[in-house]
Amino acid sequence: MIFYLLFVITIALLLLLLSMVWPPDSPWSPWWRTNKKTALKIIKLAKITEKDFIVDLGCGDGTALITAAKNKKAHGAGVEIDPFRVLIAKIRVLLGGVSDLIVIKRGNLFDQDISGSSLVIVYLIPKTLKRLKKKFFAELKPGTKVISYMYQIDFLPEVVRDEDSHVYVYLIPKKRTNTEKN
Ligand SMILES: C[S@@+](CC[C@H](N)C(=O)[O-])C[C@H]1O[C@@H](n2cnc3c(N)ncnc32)[C@H](O)[C@@H]1O
Repeated sequence: MIFYLLFVITIALLLLLLSMVWPPDSPWSPWWRTNKKTALKIIKLAKITEKDFIVDLGCGDGTALITAAKNKKAHGAGVEIDPFRVLIAKIRVLLGGVSDLIVIKRGNLFDQDISGSSLVIVYLIPKTLKRLKKKFFAELKPGTKVISYMYQIDFLPEVVRDEDSHVYVYLIPKKRTNTEKN
């Protein structure tokens, strides 16, 4: 019995350690998340208002969306591939009293229709951000803000940044330059 218990604890600890170094855009990476302080910074820098409809691609536990809904009454949708985090986000939306403003869906962010958003939030690794280029230009209207936490986006014009918080705000341009088309 003791041996069995020790075995389970060891496996659990190993999984916990592994999850800390797992790529941040993959499931089972619970330590890579936006905290409330950063979410407030995002709201301030991106000037989020109640008129905004935010899409959070890979929304995790939904902190950014929930904070924007609570503080600014912004509407939004989060898409998340990891069922466990979807469950956590849904519970937090419910407990936070913002279920009239925020919807959390389980799914692949590449399949999410983002055309109706005024603002997109991402906290994804550069490789995934690069893959989003086509989708951003195909679906987002000029003037849509894209906020990236932690990683910079090299294919969009930057509006403002907070280097200390690693928050970067971009804008979908009116006219695509040749670099943006490639
Ligand atoms: C670095 S975490 C950020 C989580 C959340 N946005 C935050 O800031 O707290 C990246 C999230 O993207 C999710 N993710 C990765 N690839 C995805 C995909 N293809 N579709 C949907 N979610 C995805 C992961 O499960 C993870 O929750």
